Amino acid sequence: MARLLIIVYFTSAFLSSFVPVQGVDRGNFKTCQQSSFCRRCRAMEPSNSAYELLMNTLKVETSSIEAEMINSRNLVTFKFQFFALTDGTFRMKINELNPIKPRFEVQDALVGEPLLEKLELVERKADKISIKCGSNIATIIAKPFRVDIHDENNILISANARGLMKFEHYRLKVPQTDPEEGEPDQVPVINDIELGDEEGAWEETFKSHHDSKPHGPSAVAMDFSFPSGESIYGIPEHADSFSLKSTADTDPYRLYNLDVFEYELDNPMALYGSIPLVLAHGVSKTVGVFWHNAAETWVDIKSKGEVTSGGSVGGAAAGMVSSIVSFVSGKAGSDDGNDAGGEPKGRPSNIDARFMSESGIIDVFFLMGPKPQDVSRQYAKLTGTATFPPYFAFGYHQSRWNYNDQDDVKSVDAGFDEHDIPCDVIWLDIEHTNGKRYFTWDKVKFPNPKEMIDHESAKGRKMVAIVDPHIKRDGGYFLHNDAEANDYYVKTKDGKVYEGWCWPGSSSYLDFFDEKVNEYYSSRYLFNNYVGSTEDLHIWNDMNEPSVFNGPEVTMPKDCVHAGGLWEHRDVHNAYALEHVKVTMDGLLRRTDGRLRPFILTRGHFAGSQRYAGVWTGDNAAEWSHLRVSIPMCLSISIAGIPMCGADITGFFKYPTPELFIRWYQAGAFQPFYRAHSHIDTKRREPWLMGDEALRLVREALRTRYSLLPFWYSLAREHETTGVPYMRPLWYQYPSERATFSIDNEYLLGDALLVHPVTEAGARYVTVYFPGEGKDVWYDFFTLEKIPGVGNVQIPVTIEKIPLYQRGGTIIPKKERIRRSSTLTQGDPFTLVVALDSKGEASGMLYLDDGKSYEFRDGKYIELFFKFAQDKLTSRVVNANSQYTTKERLEKVIIIGMAANFTRAEVESQEFGKMIVDSYYDDQSQVLVIRKPWVNIGSSWTLQLLK
Ligand SMILES: *[C@@H]1O[C@H](CO)[C@@H](O)[C@H](O)[C@H]1NC(C)=O
Repeated sequence: MARLLIIVYFTSAFLSSFVPVQGVDRGNFKTCQQSSFCRRCRAMEPSNSAYELLMNTLKVETSSIEAEMINSRNLVTFKFQFFALTDGTFRMKINELNPIKPRFEVQDALVGEPLLEKLELVERKADKISIKCGSNIATIIAKPFRVDIHDENNILISANARGLMKFEHYRLKVPQTDPEEGEPDQVPVINDIELGDEEGAWEETFKSHHDSKPHGPSAVAMDFSFPSGESIYGIPEHADSFSLKSTADTDPYRLYNLDVFEYELDNPMALYGSIPLVLAHGVSKTVGVFWHNAAETWVDIKSKGEVTSGGSVGGAAAGMVSSIVSFVSGKAGSDDGNDAGGEPKGRPSNIDARFMSESGIIDVFFLMGPKPQDVSRQYAKLTGTATFPPYFAFGYHQSRWNYNDQDDVKSVDAGFDEHDIPCDVIWLDIEHTNGKRYFTWDKVKFPNPKEMIDHESAKGRKMVAIVDPHIKRDGGYFLHNDAEANDYYVKTKDGKVYEGWCWPGSSSYLDFFDEKVNEYYSSRYLFNNYVGSTEDLHIWNDMNEPSVFNGPEVTMPKDCVHAGGLWEHRDVHNAYALEHVKVTMDGLLRRTDGRLRPFILTRGHFAGSQRYAGVWTGDNAAEWSHLRVSIPMCLSISIAGIPMCGADITGFFKYPTPELFIRWYQAGAFQPFYRAHSHIDTKRREPWLMGDEALRLVREALRTRYSLLPFWYSLAREHETTGVPYMRPLWYQYPSERATFSIDNEYLLGDALLVHPVTEAGARYVTVYFPGEGKDVWYDFFTLEKIPGVGNVQIPVTIEKIPLYQRGGTIIPKKERIRRSSTLTQGDPFTLVVALDSKGEASGMLYLDDGKSYEFRDGKYIELFFKFAQDKLTSRVVNANSQYTTKERLEKVIIIGMAANFTRAEVESQEFGKMIVDSYYDDQSQVLVIRKPWVNIGSSWTLQLLK
């Protein structure tokens, strides 16, 4: 969803702040120069940190250290806390010791209070302290303040190594002019030299929007160096490369949830979501930093190539010219512990991220890896794994702004059946409502919503309806009346209900930071309240950045207030969408007493959003470049903890050529969330409207997708238990293979499939990088042929071809019978595709449950582990006390890369005892097919090949 020609919605008064043009209007969005706190942070000089720990106040507790910290230039004091957490994780919190008002600490990004670990005191000196937790040691240096976290040999993360920490304490606006208030009790020390450039510090205007800043400047910033890192990733959402670029000559990457109309590619501008997590990756270590702050944040990146100090010891920095190096070799470097014999090697280094936030506190988690999967697990322990998707979520979703009416929905639904294309979900955008009043239906166009949804349910299909957080200010709308009567809306700085402009016209915005609002809002989803909804109606939360058409930067003014004035919007902005989907999830759970798994899609997102919703990349365009960028965008979102990611298939704005249309369906088939969506002003484009070739190839792509649903679903189980994403960068599985670090056009699904979609017009070949340095064997997923070669290989392609490869050593579960919807494949038999590695072995897993309920949490699931070795395939039920049973069977085993001819197999199961089945060998393709072993797929069995 997005604005179309906004001009029609606006009176001329609004036009001054929003001028629709082709492509993004950059003038609508701030640059760092136009943001006073970003300017102040960026203007700081390195190697001149004012912050010191007061070591005489230092207390060591079982799992934490606490001390006072001081800014030696203005003598403002802070509370410093450092915690040892489970699983090789540390947390550092810095807050004002005596703030004039509490500073916001993020709520609800974390799944709960992080678990503490006992720390071991390694060394305590007058100027530093070292503690050990797990295999990592944190050395906290008093003056200037710095934290180095290292293993036995190397510093892995160094905080404030460049001395760019900033903590602007709250100050009173002086002079106080109100005579009744008299003199404030406490006049904080103000040192304007420390503040820096004061322009915009106390109030700020952007275009016609004034930010009153009642609490003045309040920025927090910290730099993090990664001596073991060679590339750095994360901090979605940006329409940019996966590997983050140096921002030395550009704006920093910006994290500020914004509704950016026709966003541009290859730049660090903010988009709809913000996840303040970076992963620094090098051949031997992967570590992460999670900056737990929901305010507007800018992130400066130094990446490899820019600085060449390397991880060297002692005086190796001599002769280097960068500021980091001069810092390291200068006075500040002399107490970093590196020069003393036997101390860890490594340097504040070539990979560096500096977070700069407008308000809140400094609250940082250090995720110490050492492997990418470890960082994923550590991050998932903090912010949670994704809500377990219902099975249909991995099916195909057909959306459009808008399906006009009930008959239109029925005819689209019938189109899929008529053209023999599977489809699981039909979506309704904003026009289905009565005048953009969410939780209602247009009475003329959708008079019988329940009947419409039931019609889909009968085919195993679902529907999704949109519910946005802006509320039409209309005295005839129950939700507005309830919100006015009970004080549910976000307020202005003056305590009035905030009014902005959005789809319904004049709108106000529910305050999801207020508990009473949440109780009310979640109850809107109950069947009695949301008339016309059923169990098979799921929810799309859009526009929740929040989007405000006439607000500053198309969002809410920062001096609006939440929770009865407790917090400014400035403090909480990036978490607004998180709170929105959290309440939606609560509502959808309430409607079935927690029985069924909801599906929610959100546009705005933050750390932790994965616990409630999947995300898509917003309002893209039908252009090849937008197809290409969907890969790095979803990779970034995936490694930042949200595995359910997709882009609008075939592009939201504009109209695709048939070739782009086909290629996008082919590419989307291998991204987690697979939804076609398009703008109301574009021509209709259901798969059968684009010509015969498109219809045939889209059908093929969709059928391939559906055949792999058991594999996708098993990836969801893997994520649930380990935190690893479905969609992975190559370096995730091949961490020491440098050639993979900058790959943007190719990725892995699980550890089994390598995907390199065709994303160029008129492509005759693609250059696929086959990782593994020759140790891994790769097979074409469709032809089953072994790929002769490693590294970059030119693969010829036709319009039919999807470059997709299975790694030798893996076993993939499939269902090859294609039906109208995934639900209807329940009961169908499975095929196992066993791709042999160079030793003739393979392994894999399969996860089964009812696909829709939470009963799996009570043991009603089956997890199977498959192993092929010495010509024998073994299936073992991993959860021995499984409460789930299935009647589904194994109909076929395909073994690829098989060098020997076998004619039979002996299948042994509890059900049938021993049984001989036939097998068929093709020596050309080296493929052996075993037909109809027919064992129950949810059981333990063996299959021994016989000559
Ligand atoms: C495999 O062995 C069977 C039985 O000996 C034989 O009939 C068949 O032709 C062989 N197939 C190949 C491809 O060698």
